[in-house]
Amino acid sequence: MALKITVIGTGYLGATHAAAMAELGFEVLGLDVVPEKIAMLQRGEVPMYEPGLEELLRKHVAGIEGSSGRLRFTMDWAEVAEFGDVHFMCTNTPQKHGEYACDMSYVDRAFELLAPHLTRPALVVGKSTVPVGSADRLAAYLAEHAPAGADAELAWNPEFLREGLAVEDTLRPDRIVVGVRSERAEKLLREVYAVPVGAGSPFVVTDFPTAELVKTAANSFLATKISFINAMAEVCEAADGDVVKLAEAIGHDERIGSKFLRAGIGFGGGCLPKDIRAFMARAGELGADQALTFLREIDSINMRRRGQMVEMTREALGGGSFLGKRVAVLGATFKPDSDDVRDSPALNVAGQIHLQGGQVTVYDPKGMDNALRLFPTLGYADTAVEAVRGADVVLHLTEWREFRELDPAELGEGVRARLILDGRNALDPELWRKAGWTYRGMGRPTA
Ligand code: UDX
Repeated sequence: MALKITVIGTGYLGATHAAAMAELGFEVLGLDVVPEKIAMLQRGEVPMYEPGLEELLRKHVAGIEGSSGRLRFTMDWAEVAEFGDVHFMCTNTPQKHGEYACDMSYVDRAFELLAPHLTRPALVVGKSTVPVGSADRLAAYLAEHAPAGADAELAWNPEFLREGLAVEDTLRPDRIVVGVRSERAEKLLREVYAVPVGAGSPFVVTDFPTAELVKTAANSFLATKISFINAMAEVCEAADGDVVKLAEAIGHDERIGSKFLRAGIGFGGGCLPKDIRAFMARAGELGADQALTFLREIDSINMRRRGQMVEMTREALGGGSFLGKRVAVLGATFKPDSDDVRDSPALNVAGQIHLQGGQVTVYDPKGMDNALRLFPTLGYADTAVEAVRGADVVLHLTEWREFRELDPAELGEGVRARLILDGRNALDPELWRKAGWTYRGMGRPTA
C-alpha cells in the first residue's frame, strides 16, 4: 500500500513540501497550529508569493474542483499521528532574539505535541535547519515519549529549497540527503523520493550529524562566495576595476564556477544570515569556534555592503545630508520572485536613508504589503514610474525582471535628475547611459 505522508508546519517549506508530495502521488495530511493558515490552504490559497505553488496546491487540495483530492489539512495532532507512515517536521528555526543562536522552540514544541500520539510504527523526518546534535537529542526524546517506542523512529533530511524556485527545488532537488540509523528508515525514504531519484537526483545516505551539517555547510559556502565577490567589489572600487568582468572571468574556471558571484548589496532573507550565525554559535558550544571565525568576516563584509550603498548614494548626491533629497527605491524583497522582506538588504538601505532625513519612496512588484508592515514610515508607490517621480536619485536594490524591462527614457521624464545606482549590477549600463542617465554599479568603474 502506498505510504501516507504528513507535513507538520505549513510555512514556506512545509506548504511546498506538502504540495510536492501530493504531486508525487502520495496521500498527504498537512498540520499547522495557526487556524488562519489552515483555512487559507484548505481554500487552495498560499500565504506567501511563490511562483507555481498556488497552482500545485490547487491541483491537489481536497474539495477544490478538479483536484486530485490527495492533499488535506488539519489542526488535530491525533489525526496526523493516526494517518501518517512518514511525518515530515517542517517548523521554522529563526535566530534567537538578540543572539546568534538558533531558536529551537518551534521544533521542540512540534515534537512534544506529536510524540504522545505516536502509537503505531512511523518514521519522523526532520527537515528544518538545526544546530548539529539536535537530531540525536530529538531521537532520544521520541524514544522516551512515543508510545510506539523504537517503532517511532527519527531520520534527518535537510531541505535545500530556494525561495522563488521552491517548487522546482522540491520536485527536482540537486541532491537528497538523509541521515538515518536503520535500513528501515533508509528504505522508507527511498520510497518517498523514488521519483526524483529516478529522474537523476543523487541520494546521499549518512548519519545524523553529517546530515545536519550538510545544510549549514552548504549555506556557509554560498554566503562565502557572495561575500568573497563583494570583497573583490570593494577592491575594484578602490582600484577602478570592474567586478562584473572579474566575476565572469574567474567563473570560467570550472573549479570556481560562475554562480553566486553577483556582487551587490549582499545576501539577506530568512536563511543565509541566520544560518551562518547559528552555525558559529553552535561551533562555539562544541569548542570548534576557531574553525568558523572566518564566517564572522563573511557576515561583516555582507553587512558592510548595505552601509556602503548608503554612502555611495550620499556621494552621488554631492555629499552631506540627505535632508530634502528624494530617493526612489526599486525593490524591497531580499531577492526577486519572492514577497519575503526578512533581513532584506534593500529595505535596510531604504530605512537607513530615511532615518538620515531622506525622503524615500519604495516600489516592489510583490513585497509591498510585507514591507509596509515592517517599515510603515517609508513612502510607498504603486508603480516604478510613480516611485521615481521627482527623484534626485533612483536606487535599484532588488533585481526583479520588471526593473530590467523598464524604459529608461520614459522613466527619465519624471525624475529631477537622471541618476541611477544599481545595487545589484543587474541593469544594462549602456541602455541607461544612452537615455541620458548617469549609471553607477557596485564595484564598477564610474564612467
Ligand atoms: C538559500 C539557499 O540558496 C538554499 O539552498 C537554502 O535552502 C535556503 O537559503 P534563499 O534564502 O532562498 O536560499 O536565497 P538565495 O537564492 O540563496 O539568495 C540569498 C541572498 O543572496 C539573496 O539576498 C540574494 O540576492 C543574494 N545573492 C545571491 C547575491 O547577493 N549574490 C549572488 O550571487 C547570489
